[in-house]
Amino acid sequence: MQAIASAPGKTILFGEHSVVYGEPAIAGAVDKRAIVKIKNSNNNKTILRSFDLNFEAELNTQSKKYILKRGKPGIIRYILEALNMFHDHSPIEITLSSNIPIGSGLGSSAAVTVATLAALYRYHNIRFNKQSLANDAHKVEESVQGIASPLDTLVCTYGGLIYLSRRKTIENLRINFNTPFVIGFTSKHGNTGKMVRDVRNLKDSNPKIINPLISAMGHLTNSGKVAILNNNISKIGELMNINHGLLDALGVSTAELSRMVYLARKKGAVGAKITGAGGGGSIIALCPENINDVAEEISKYDNILKTRFTRKGVSSKVKWY
Ligand code: PMV
Repeated sequence: MQAIASAPGKTILFGEHSVVYGEPAIAGAVDKRAIVKIKNSNNNKTILRSFDLNFEAELNTQSKKYILKRGKPGIIRYILEALNMFHDHSPIEITLSSNIPIGSGLGSSAAVTVATLAALYRYHNIRFNKQSLANDAHKVEESVQGIASPLDTLVCTYGGLIYLSRRKTIENLRINFNTPFVIGFTSKHGNTGKMVRDVRNLKDSNPKIINPLISAMGHLTNSGKVAILNNNISKIGELMNINHGLLDALGVSTAELSRMVYLARKKGAVGAKITGAGGGGSIIALCPENINDVAEEISKYDNILKTRFTRKGVSSKVKWY
């Protein structure tokens, strides 16, 4: 028997950083996925391998330690934590495949965590629903990262475009948002914890200036929700551009991120902004037309990925053979 699960990556469209202060945010699942397969191990060892990410390790799920046979870790910590919390420690073989580039800001860790847990529940025949899965995945992320917003794991579990309200309720914006976009990402990874701390320091030393910016980001997200529901692409683009300016004012942009944003706009993107924590990391450029021109221009300096939002969240099954 083999348990198989997959979960999509995510991108934040509106509301990063302001969400930390209780403002709403909108994030969407993208059509890039992490796939986890779990089966019995035939040599009494728990093995994790990924051909796509080029690593292999022998895991000790009780002590959360591993012996690396090949490649670099990173994502292993999430899988180990998930197994430590929710597996009975019997020997298993785990195979991970993913077309979500690590460090691209597309939530690869959340997608891997959600897919690992869903495969594990299937393997053990444990009943679960999306809410319990998203909660458990959030616990895993928190335990690995210290702090983590529930947004990533929610989006990777439910799929679609998710609006997280001020009251922390979630609403799945049930529309087909088909406009393609380009994700541009630098090789320099942003450090989410540090960026959140930097914004807090700026806010604490300039409350009269920064507080209104944060609440403007909340208004912007709400206008973004209306524009999405009306499929008003040019309005979404305009709001993305404003959001980028506000994020820049919070100090989370870099020369590379700004370069990507301005190149994207010049080549025809209707809107372009930082997505995620900034300080390195990635941008999102909405491209109803000219997607190839935008992608080509950004890829002269940085990495790109062309993608779309998807309504498909986590999926899982058991295969008997
Ligand atoms: O960089 P990401 O994709 O992990 O997004 C971080 C979003 C923040 O709002 C900056 C932090 C958070 O926990 O919401």
